[in-house]
Parts: sequence; C-alpha cells; structure tokens
Amino acid sequence: MNNFQTLLDGLRLPVLASPMFLVSNPAMVIAQCTSGIIGSFPVLNARPQEELAVWLQRIADALQADRAAGGNPAPYAVNLVIRANSDRFEADLETCVAHRVPIVITSLGDPTRVAERVHAYGGLVLHDVTSARHARRALAGGADGLILVCAGAGGHAGALSPFALVNEVRRFFNGPIVLGGAISEGRSILAAQVLGADLVYMGTRFIATRESAAVDEYKAMLVQSTASDIVYTPHFSGIPANYLRPSIVNAGLDPDDLPVVDTAAVRAAGDRQKRWKDIWGAGQGVGGIDNVPPVAELVDRLETEYRAAQEDVGRRLCASALAQGTPT
Ligand SMILES: Cc1cc2nc3c(=O)[nH]c(=O)nc-3n(C[C@H](O)[C@H](O)[C@H](O)COP(=O)(O)O)c2cc1C
Repeated sequence: MNNFQTLLDGLRLPVLASPMFLVSNPAMVIAQCTSGIIGSFPVLNARPQEELAVWLQRIADALQADRAAGGNPAPYAVNLVIRANSDRFEADLETCVAHRVPIVITSLGDPTRVAERVHAYGGLVLHDVTSARHARRALAGGADGLILVCAGAGGHAGALSPFALVNEVRRFFNGPIVLGGAISEGRSILAAQVLGADLVYMGTRFIATRESAAVDEYKAMLVQSTASDIVYTPHFSGIPANYLRPSIVNAGLDPDDLPVVDTAAVRAAGDRQKRWKDIWGAGQGVGGIDNVPPVAELVDRLETEYRAAQEDVGRRLCASALAQGTPT
C-alpha cells in the first residue's frame, strides 16, 4: 500500500467514496470496493466499539471472497477522528492496527501517532483538511496524502474554492491529493484531475444508493433537492457544515433564522450525534442526484460519464489544435 501509484492503477475510477456518519455501513463499503472504487466508513458508525472488529472482518472476508472469485476489489478506508485522551479513540486505533486497515483517513488533530502505527504495517494515512495551513500541519505529522474538503461539500465543509485550495497546496506538496466537495458526476471526476487532484472524495451522491443506511425519506429528499436547498451553518455541530434545507424546516426551524448558539458549547457537549439524526447533511452536488440505484449501478454510470467526458475533452482539444494549425 506504500505505493500510491500502484493503488491508483488498480482502481476502476479515481474515486474514494467518503466516510459518512450514520450513513456508511459494511454493505455500502463492500459494494464500493467490489465495484472498483475505494469505500470507507467512520469508526463511530460501528457501535458499541467492539462492533468495529466485526465490521472490519466482514469487509476483509467479502473482499477476499471477491478476489477468490476473480474480482479485483479496491482497498477500503476507515475514518478516525483524532481525539486525544478518548478511550474510544485508543481502542479504535488498536482495532484498525490489528486488522491492518489499508487506508486510514484522519480528521482534526495531529496525525503523528496514527501515522507511525499505520506506517508500521504498510498502511496509508490521508488527512482531511480545509486550508493550506492545516495541510502543512498534517504533512508535518506524517500524513501520506491530503484530502482537500472544499466549498459545497456535504457535512463539515471548507469555505474555499477547489481552484484556490488545490493550486495553493500544489505549490508545496507533490504527493497524493484527494479533492472533495459537490462532486456527483463522472465529468466532475475528470475536472478534478485536470485541476491537479489524484482522486475525488465523493459522499453525498452515495447517500442516495440502495445500500446506504440513510432512511428512505432522506434519499428521496436528495433526489428532489438542488444546490439552492443546501444551508451552510455551524448551528448544529459547532463547525460549519452543509445540510438539506427541507430537513431543517421539518424539524420546526427556520433555516434563514437559526437561533444563535454557543458553537463552542455545542462542540463540547458532543450532542452532534443526536442532531445529525434529525438534520440531514448533504453537499451542493445534490442537483446531480436523480435516482437511488445500487452502488454497482452508480459506479457503472459514473464510469460511462467519465469516459464520455474524456472523449468530449479529447475532441475539443483536437478541434482547438486544428484551428491553431498545430499538428495533432
Ligand atoms: C451525512 C454526512 C456525514 C458525514 N460524516 C462524516 C464523518 O463522519 N467523517 C468525515 O470525515 N466526514 C464526514 N462527512 C464528510 C464527507 O466525508 C466528505 O467530506 C463529503 O461528503 C464530500 O463532499 P460531497 O458530500 O459533496 O461529495 C460527512 C458528509 C455527509 C454528507
């Protein structure tokens, strides 16, 4: 796993399906990996903590069975939110190390200790950031690659345009970059590569799949919504995040007049988990969601769109070269 290029070469599409609280489950991760893209889930979805080992074993067994049947599954990733002095964090880290999780996605905090443990068995650490300052800190802490969570991403999102952040980070980092934020279609995957990313981080689009743990009403709301239905607010978790406006209305709140809360107190109280249940997270890429297919069918569609975009761009480049009289 140390060779990131080998990892990329083995994928059907340069996609990492991002970890989503209360949404990602083993069935979705297995379907993503066996479809040829990297699947992932946040450790906190496996509850109680002992359940994490059960999930990891289930995923490893399914991927092994796929390999034995002639498949070429992508590796999977697990998201660990770094919280110093948390019992659950220590136990989760030990469980990931024991199962040699191929890719660990770290968020918040300093990844140094996680990176040491994961590198010891040859795993890869990707740290998720929303600014160049955090990117530098993550690299100093031993992260192998960066996930740039840009404006419009579902859940906790940055406020920077991908054009700004990718270019800034590429000035000092040549390694693996995963780009996230409102990417729901095959053409956007190609656009992210043109911008300088190696992989895309795609979350919201996968909530509306058969395997996801989201309730049917949530999936239906995604199909009906467009980018203007997304509200960016720190109100519910203490950190700015994107949510579906109708879910806020259904909870009896006015999305345009949310009561002022003490965001530090919300974070400290840790009532984020309860809130996420009623208020549904989603990114600005919702406008590209028009159905709730099985994961495998969605990945087929993304590949078709991606190949069509490649051909279209190829044609445009040829036409412009011809117009300039450049030999093609
Ligand atoms: C409902 C929901 C829950 C999320 N939960 C997590 C999480 O637990 N950990 C995490 O690192 N990111 C989480 N995210 C953020 C995603 O990992 C990723 O940054 C985002 O989905 C990418 O943008 P997109 O949704 O526009 O594709 C969540 C996103 C959504 C929509």
